[in-house]
Amino acid sequence: MSENGQSELITKVEDIGRVAVLGAGTMGHGIAQVAAMAGFDVVMRDLEEGFLDKAMKKIGANLDKGVARGKVSAEDRDAALKRLTTSTSIAKACEGAQLVIEAVPESIDLKRETFAAVVETAHPGAVLATNTSSLSIAQIAESIPRPERVVGMHFFNPVHIMKLVEVVKHEGSSEAVVQCARDIAAKLGKTGITVKDTPGFASSRLGLVIGLEAMRMFEQGVASAEDIDTAMKLGYGHPMGPLELTDLVGLDVRLSIAEYLTETVSAGFTPPQVLKDLVADGKLGKKSGEGFYVWKDGKRQS
Ligand SMILES: NC(=O)c1ccc[n+]([C@@H]2O[C@H](COP(=O)([O-])OP(=O)(O)OC[C@H]3O[C@@H](n4cnc5c(N)ncnc54)[C@H](O)[C@@H]3O)[C@@H](O)[C@H]2O)c1
Repeated sequence: MSENGQSELITKVEDIGRVAVLGAGTMGHGIAQVAAMAGFDVVMRDLEEGFLDKAMKKIGANLDKGVARGKVSAEDRDAALKRLTTSTSIAKACEGAQLVIEAVPESIDLKRETFAAVVETAHPGAVLATNTSSLSIAQIAESIPRPERVVGMHFFNPVHIMKLVEVVKHEGSSEAVVQCARDIAAKLGKTGITVKDTPGFASSRLGLVIGLEAMRMFEQGVASAEDIDTAMKLGYGHPMGPLELTDLVGLDVRLSIAEYLTETVSAGFTPPQVLKDLVADGKLGKKSGEGFYVWKDGKRQS
């Protein structure tokens, strides 16, 4: 307890044993997996048992693949699965948790509601992290008692493979909590970077500059989609070209981020016409079968 009778904030990764992961979708199941593998006791929460079963199956399959490839031992897989439980109750999932990582859908109201429920049962000094990819951390934090413990922890998809976590600090974030979030990222096998609470953080803002310019070049006939992508792969060592990456992320997703950054950062993010046209035609990339490339059964055709 501190002098004013409040529990101390959790600022040391060694003081974290119990972790609640809220949302068991694309991101949540991956975060729960890496947290359990790192030795934390994890409770994953979603709205229905069916969603949790599906998430547990995905985690089991990921870990089995790791074992088959010799990257994970069978003992470590089994121990991680034992440390991982599920609940549809947010109160139970958060009970005594020293770290909560929220990965529910991207809605400010839903995230605020979720954290309002979290604080009812979580450790009173718990680190509260949101995996939002675009929302203001300050706006999420403002409705929470002790907003200084709220940070962004922006993971990348697929979580068990991608090494980056953007630790996003708002103006009121405690520096000790920000450092703790970086230490948590390291314990999960990731590298944390610290980024101010600004639209697009570091990764989306920078990635989109290249993506949008590649689209403009494509539009102007500077080179084919494949040749533009090859320029960045072979010329700059990017593992994937910006247009193929846009197909993977989803053209609709990139369009909405571009519109948001145009409003909040600069007119330099104004979406190219080709992006607007493709989205209007339902060509959303890999998920719809066509974007800058044609896709079939999850594989690029052209
Ligand atoms: N998909 C990505 O590539 C990606 C990358 C980085 C960050 N993000 C962010 O991560 C968050 C989650 O995205 P996702 O792609 O995993 O979404 P998703 O739709 O795959 O999963 C969200 C899950 O949350 C569940 N859910 C809804 N309300 C809930 C509640 N109140 N409590 C618990 N679970 C609830 C849903 O049933 C669903 O299973 C979003 O904020 C998103 O912006 C996504």
